Amino acid sequence: MKVGLMGLGTVGTGVVHLIDQNGESIEKKLGEKIEIKKILVKNPIKKRTPLAEGKITFNPDDILEDEEIDVIVEVMGKEHPALEYIVKALEKGKHVVTANKEVIAKHGKELIKLARQNKVHLLYEASVGGGIPIIRPLKQCLAANKIYEIKGILNGTTNYILTEMKEKGLDFEEVLKNAQEKGYAEADPTDDVEGFDAARKLAILCTLAFNKFILPEKIYTKGIKFISKSDIKYAQELGYTIKLIAYGKVDEKDRLEAWVHPVMIKKDNPLSGVKGVFNAILVDGNAVGEVMFYGQGAGMMPTASAVVADIMDVKNHIVIQNGCEEAELLPIVDTVSKYYIRLIAFDRPGVMSKITGILGEKGISLLSVVQKGVLGQTAEIVLITHIANTGKIFEALKEIQNLQEVESIESVIRVEEE
Ligand code: NAP
Ligand code: HSE
Repeated sequence: MKVGLMGLGTVGTGVVHLIDQNGESIEKKLGEKIEIKKILVKNPIKKRTPLAEGKITFNPDDILEDEEIDVIVEVMGKEHPALEYIVKALEKGKHVVTANKEVIAKHGKELIKLARQNKVHLLYEASVGGGIPIIRPLKQCLAANKIYEIKGILNGTTNYILTEMKEKGLDFEEVLKNAQEKGYAEADPTDDVEGFDAARKLAILCTLAFNKFILPEKIYTKGIKFISKSDIKYAQELGYTIKLIAYGKVDEKDRLEAWVHPVMIKKDNPLSGVKGVFNAILVDGNAVGEVMFYGQGAGMMPTASAVVADIMDVKNHIVIQNGCEEAELLPIVDTVSKYYIRLIAFDRPGVMSKITGILGEKGISLLSVVQKGVLGQTAEIVLITHIANTGKIFEALKEIQNLQEVESIESVIRVEEE
């Protein structure tokens, strides 16, 4: 099997090494040898693995126009030009394996159609959960189920940051800086910390689990930048752990509830023990019950494990994925949750009653209100609501923010229901 590799960064280098290391056993299982014929890169002066010697090219057509190459592995990242190369490869009748969640989340529907028209496969196991098998189990092993709900920790960088904040008592910025220095977080960590990476992965999972197509930008997404060490401490005092959760569910009216949001989860929730760069996904099916997928959601060799398995699967692939309908999205304002709200207000008589009055007018009932401490003329107030309508919470927060007595609303975190 002759492969054209597009990209030789973290994942591409892992793919080259894994095929070299396990070449013999892969050949035995597959009945043929995988040979990486050419490798596309951009930077002419970067030092490469010796395994890439004699294979490097800077011209995509050297790979796309090569009649001998029957599988293209796209591990360049970003939407463009990866999308254009994948389209061209499929049109040329080449199978495509990709780890690119941005391309699959935004264009997967058309690409799958294009692959079907050209009688080739488009496989993307590494696009969600790195080395964790989740795409194939959803497409095949769990295919007989009606899936009720998926919830997961889909981003390794943010889970690492939240874990370090909790275990070392550090603030977000400090941990992010350490993570960048150690090479865990990207130089531009926006997509991770703002939750966009998790939203792309959630969009892919919703399509497979519920057969409903949803663009990632339509998913209500809130990242973890605002979370402080006080939030982590208060969550612990209350018996919770804060995790960035990606959530999807289809309601009784067939509308899709899908969001990415920090959530305070109970310590006995299996997602609570998922630490560092690890990912985990809980899938609830009507026949199988709850199933959990856990493992390394990123990194050179775990991701290469999923990519190389896809290359091997190209020839044996039997499940044809049919088209799916576009999801009717449940607006975030119509979802319900308990909420944790931390705000800074001036320490004056009557402040608390104004805040609780606004919440009361919106029909939001409070589970607890605590003044956590006085900082000069201001005080930190932590409120936890009973289950409330998110739209009413947003309206109340707007009014509370406008109170003269309130300096800032620092954190708004969903709280897991009992
Ligand atoms: P990376 O380290 O930044 O590597 C990207 C590679 O693609 C580099 O070799 C780069 O060339 C090449 N490249 C980028 N744009 C190019 C262009 N226009 N023309 C030619 N070559 C180009 O990225 P990565 O971390 O390996 O990630 C690759 C993909 O896997 C992304 O879609 C990512 O989201 C996904 N993924 C990554 C992980 C992970 O743990 N890293 C896990 C799961 C999925 P140069 O070497 O010349 O710069
Ligand atoms: N930036 C991603 C993460 C890489 O931190 O999970 C794996 O998709």
